Amino acid sequence: MELERPRDPERPERFAIAAMATGDIAAVTRIERACFTTIWPSDAFYNELSSNKLAHYFVGRVGDRIVAYGGVWVILEDSHITTLAVDPAYRGRRFGETLLLRLIDEAIERGAAWITLEVRESNTIAQQLYRKYGFTTVTMRHGYYSDDNESALIMWAGSLKSELYHNRLRVLRRRFES
Ligand SMILES: CC(C)(COP(=O)(O)OP(=O)(O)OC[C@H]1O[C@@H](n2cnc3c(N)ncnc32)[C@H](O)[C@@H]1OP(=O)(O)O)[C@@H](O)C(=O)NCCC(=O)NCCS
Repeated sequence: MELERPRDPERPERFAIAAMATGDIAAVTRIERACFTTIWPSDAFYNELSSNKLAHYFVGRVGDRIVAYGGVWVILEDSHITTLAVDPAYRGRRFGETLLLRLIDEAIERGAAWITLEVRESNTIAQQLYRKYGFTTVTMRHGYYSDDNESALIMWAGSLKSELYHNRLRVLRRRFES
């Protein structure tokens, strides 16, 4: 059994983000199972990494342990956050926010002007994080999730190219890094 080391305020944990590799999939799948009631088919991450040129996936590590992951598709000016999750034992430490910021930066660097995602109606924690980054609900898909028929909120932010959004990111990043 792996014991979690207590957090030491004198030595803050370094959260390092890197591109997801196929060798990371087992660890990612473990986090996915702990976070979601419906999980992707077993080969989905492999297919995304090996064959989808529009897809950009990242993992976040503390030491050598993968504790978070996320992905975004960028299709010309449109982008779509496909997934984002933090290991339950590592939540509330700004790791989810850091990774979301990385996904938004990736979309902007690749020329996206708009970014969208879907989130469970009951998932108010994730919605709060997304709202912080300028996402608003544009519509609802009733009964979207097949396991329990829960509805999805479709959230959207833009224009990622606008001065207004860049200023918002600058302020959030500054607050975040201080
Ligand atoms: C959503 C998730 C990624 C957030 O990750 P996290 O690392 O715990 O969150 P952070 O510490 O980075 O918090 C960033 C922001 O998220 C929101 N948030 C995080 N925890 C929250 C809580 N318990 N209550 C309310 N808002 C919360 C806040 O907006 C917070 O910003 P603030 O501290 O300035 O208020 C994480 O809860 C998770 O993995 N959930 C399960 C998977 C999931 O729902 N993914 C999204 C699918 S669409």
